[in-house]
Amino acid sequence: SSLVSLCCFLRGPFCVGGALFFGSFCSGPSSFRFYLSPYLLIGARDARLRAHAPYSHFAVGAALMDEQGRVHAGANIENAAYPQGLCAEAAALAHLVVAGGRRVMAAVVVGEGREAVPPCGGCRQKLREFAGDELPVIVADGREVRLRTTLGALLPHSFGPDHLSAGRRP
Ligand code: THU
Repeated sequence: SSLVSLCCFLRGPFCVGGALFFGSFCSGPSSFRFYLSPYLLIGARDARLRAHAPYSHFAVGAALMDEQGRVHAGANIENAAYPQGLCAEAAALAHLVVAGGRRVMAAVVVGEGREAVPPCGGCRQKLREFAGDELPVIVADGREVRLRTTLGALLPHSFGPDHLSAGRRP
């Protein structure tokens, strides 16, 4: 919301867990949750410009920050065999994993439309593999941040890797 973005008070560079961050925190009890690096926003917007979306004409960009503070971006990649298309978040996740990233610390999704473009259900679950409820998910367009939320809010009572390790048969 614009009230939340008005509250931004702290700007980088600063250090969290050994990684250098640039960007802004928002005040309030959940300040850490809504850390937003301009590199994430730029990365997602830039990736969106290279989306391969000749069928839906709906370009999406995503950028993820890993535990080392690195940004990995992706765009949707559609296919003539429609169900084979890939979401922007999945493309960004592939970059993160292959670069050696292990955790997603923040996610930005960029799309254009009357409504904000949040990650689809499948991508919420894909993000869950590398993050928990606290993951900040920021939804933006080319002009502004439209929504600041968390993975826990987008995917409540989620199933994750811990369920498998706790429930495996001996
Ligand atoms: N899309 C994404 O890339 N991410 C989402 O979270 C929502 C949907 C893409 C998939 C498809 O290429 C296009 O948007 C229209 O659904």
